[in-house]
Amino acid sequence: MKILAIETSCDETAAAIVEATGDLSNPKFKVLSKKVHSQIEEHKKFGGVYPSLAKREHAKNIVPVVSECIKILNSKSEILNFKFEKEIKEILQREPDLFENFKEFIENTPKPNVDMLAVTSGPGLEPALWVGINFAKALSLAWQIPLMPINHMEGHLSSVLINSPKIDFPALGVLISGGHTELVEINNWNEYKILGKTKDDAIGESYDKVARLLGFPYPGGPQISELAQKFRQKSQVSSLKSDIKFPRPMINSPDLDFSFSGLKTAVLYKTQELESQVSSLTSDLKEQIAFEFEEAVVDVLNTKIGKALNTNDFKTIITAGGVIANQYIRENISQIANDYGIKALFPEIEDSTDNAQMIAIAAYLNSFKTDSKINPQIVANGGLTY
Ligand code: KG4
Ligand code: ZN
Repeated sequence: MKILAIETSCDETAAAIVEATGDLSNPKFKVLSKKVHSQIEEHKKFGGVYPSLAKREHAKNIVPVVSECIKILNSKSEILNFKFEKEIKEILQREPDLFENFKEFIENTPKPNVDMLAVTSGPGLEPALWVGINFAKALSLAWQIPLMPINHMEGHLSSVLINSPKIDFPALGVLISGGHTELVEINNWNEYKILGKTKDDAIGESYDKVARLLGFPYPGGPQISELAQKFRQKSQVSSLKSDIKFPRPMINSPDLDFSFSGLKTAVLYKTQELESQVSSLTSDLKEQIAFEFEEAVVDVLNTKIGKALNTNDFKTIITAGGVIANQYIRENISQIANDYGIKALFPEIEDSTDNAQMIAIAAYLNSFKTDSKINPQIVANGGLTY
């Protein structure tokens, strides 16, 4: 089965075509095509993702992204006449420019040979989600291909399947991204239970906020981890010691929930205190703060993962989300898996940030559960859960 998926939940406009075979116990995937347009440059000046700008950018880029993505299929099939004009105009009524682009696209593009369409319906920024949903609905109608709504977090968890490894269940899902921090019990694909989640900031969000405090542009997670790593390496070869200490919020709570906003506030107070002494932070001080912040995050994360592993006979840890680009966090999670004698799986770094191949894969897994059909009832749900 070939699936064309669309993802617009945050600041990436993405499309992918994935060929899927096999059953739920042994699914196999081949990514035939993938395309992402990132809006990061546009959002940088706001220090974070600005929803109405995200919506505008998605509406501008979705046709070129999808068009580029399906080129690979080199479709010999026919160009369909543009039908359902009234219905499609209604679907795209909030994006009139998109309607014109969409019409032109359908009138010039052979219908690709795909069996199913999939689109992220949540969680995410609702104005951004709506663009992908409405576009996918219009596409589904114009090309008469069934459309399936997909949970973005299920997509992230599914991203480990891109290389089609065999998964031993139950698995512990560790979702760490700019918008989410969740521990999930996965008894099989399509069977999820949230064990714990953040009560305020997500891990990636806390990295980005600390980065901002230290003067780095959005998204500053990678800079913080780079500075932390510098300090870590220096302290390993010298007697360099840090005298800064940050709290480990909720580390001793019996539940599996997280809280990172207090940690960010502790970093804020520390930077203010230091700035009152030295006017501007030296790069040595920034490295030290980044290091201590990362140690606090990793301490909490390791502790909660350990606690979660004790709740069940987990055979695998599946970690997903943009924060897995962090090498130190990956090493720590691999070490925990090793200590427990279980497998740690991570998607490739390029598949860990928001993308559409993970949405196509989750759609295939979902196709074993639900009837896929043209579904005009799909709505954006910013807080969608499993
Ligand atoms: O999954 P993702 O692309 O978007 C969301 O769905 O949120 O995750 C992006 C997040 C950003 O907060 C970014 O700063 C963070 O992942 N990130 C990192 C690193 N690379 C990306 N955080 C810490 N260390 C990194 N190396
Ligand atoms: Zn995401």
